[in-house]
Amino acid sequence: MEWALELNRLTKRFGDKVAVDGLDLRLPPGAFLGLLGRNGAGKSTTLKMVTGLLQPTEGSIRVLGLDLGADPIAVKRQIGVMPEDMALLEFLSGPQYLRFVGRMYGLDDATADARRLELFSKLDLDPPAGALVSDYSYGMKKKLSLCAALIHAPRMLFLDEPFEGIDAVTSRTIKEILAGLQTRGVTLILTSHIMEVVERLCPLIAILDEGRLKGFGSLEDLREGAGAEDLESLFVDLVGGAQKGELSWL
Ligand SMILES: Nc1ncnc2c1ncn2[C@@H]1O[C@H](COP(=O)(O)OP(=O)(O)O)[C@@H](O)[C@H]1O
Ligand SMILES: [Mg+2]
Repeated sequence: MEWALELNRLTKRFGDKVAVDGLDLRLPPGAFLGLLGRNGAGKSTTLKMVTGLLQPTEGSIRVLGLDLGADPIAVKRQIGVMPEDMALLEFLSGPQYLRFVGRMYGLDDATADARRLELFSKLDLDPPAGALVSDYSYGMKKKLSLCAALIHAPRMLFLDEPFEGIDAVTSRTIKEILAGLQTRGVTLILTSHIMEVVERLCPLIAILDEGRLKGFGSLEDLREGAGAEDLESLFVDLVGGAQKGELSWL
């Protein structure tokens, strides 16, 4: 069986800080994984490593059957990424940026333009003609980042906190897009610190805490394993939600 994603002892240290601590994970093709964890759990660091944006300290990563360390370009050709900082080129207009991204993936400008029109219409992204990305609102940037992740029809999609700072209507559109991709066999991984997002959307869940995998499986598997009623109590059980008492001055 060829895994869509295979992590072996994946580790990232920043000085003394261990951000990701020996992650082992295997995902079958077509899976939709929600990587859930508190702020600072190591979600973004993991995503950056598996998409080739950050070098691991230790461990290996295979994406779509390819060794990421040995074959980074071949991997990047087939994946789409919506990174934490969105990494847009702010001095271009949105359409220019998507042409630029399209060219990197070998798309001609006419194809990039046609896909951009469809994406903008689907996402209700309607920037003033010629407006630079630097003048886009946060939500518009987020949408543009999603367009860039999708324009080359990736086989695998990585989204870091895709619903952060996004209105409810757009959230629903993004969920629709993700569901459509899943039915077409695209492997999806998103991170979120919000349980409800992962619980509702992702058939497979990985819970990360202090860089370690605390749980992995379907919601049912996790519930049964921990004997917890819902994901919230499970989450608190797994990552520990110590009562810190009341604020002294309130
Ligand atoms: N470039 C960096 N240098 C030092 N520490 C970092 C760096 N990036 C992340 N960290 C630390 O690693 C931990 C995990 O961060 P991150 O992966 O961003 O968490 P999450 O996305 O789950 O909120 C945090 O403690 C964070 O402060
Ligand atoms: Mg993060």
